[in-house]
Amino acid sequence: MKIVLLGAPGAGKGTHAQYLSDKYEIPHISTGDIFRANLKNGTPLGLKAKAYMDRGELVPDELTVDLVLDRLNQEDCENGYILDGFPRNLFQADALTKALAEKGEDIDHAIHFVISEEAIIRRMSGRRVCPVCGATYNVVGMPTKVEGICDRCGSEVIQREDDKPATVLKRLEVYREQTEPIVGYYRERGKEERIDSSQPLEEVRKALDELLKG
Ligand code: AP5
Repeated sequence: MKIVLLGAPGAGKGTHAQYLSDKYEIPHISTGDIFRANLKNGTPLGLKAKAYMDRGELVPDELTVDLVLDRLNQEDCENGYILDGFPRNLFQADALTKALAEKGEDIDHAIHFVISEEAIIRRMSGRRVCPVCGATYNVVGMPTKVEGICDRCGSEVIQREDDKPATVLKRLEVYREQTEPIVGYYRERGKEERIDSSQPLEEVRKALDELLKG
């Protein structure tokens, strides 16, 4: 099953990608996580991406597209994958469609997480992430069991650099201008499936289960 997750920053893509990855045993491929891991390891890619991420802008396509398309050719992607944060503009969406078409493939679902900007801003200010295993929490509604400590690996959770209020507003602007058009791209291809992600976590999971059961 090949799934693309669509939706604004903070809409819940990463949270539910993890759920789907565990459930269907297919990899969760997050471009944001790939860039952050590169940054943590001090690679040239990470250092280049950092400047864009800190400003809330998109990392250039030439640093992004081949990276993802190569990743999709790895063995663990044979039974499918969940793309979270890619594609993020029309160029990337088209590059993905063409690369898959060359192999006689297409994505199966483009799941669009729909939520208001006010709710997103509230969620992003409360988001905490584990810098070691990537688990995501929220101080409101989805806290760690022990305050400040990751449930999965015991590391100290942190606030993401780009979750500062000014950067969040910039990311939302970039989303509206560059990423939202790909919702129409997938709608025209009959692939867009909407989920109300303002609902509590369990309800969103139920909606996903329902959508993917067929
Ligand atoms: P990336 O890491 O992809 O960030 P994003 O798309 O902005 O998405 P987020 O991770 O912020 O949000 P999410 O939808 O995953 O929400 P989450 O599940 O955490 O990208 C970061 C940067 O990298 C970009 O700005 C760009 O610079 C660069 N980049 C990445 N990909 C790129 C590409 N393809 N091209 C160019 N540049 C690229 O949820 C948010 C919060 O809400 C969490 O705290 C969570 O616990 C909580 N929450 C979620 N669901 C619920 C619920 N139902 N109820 C209550 N709380 C909930």
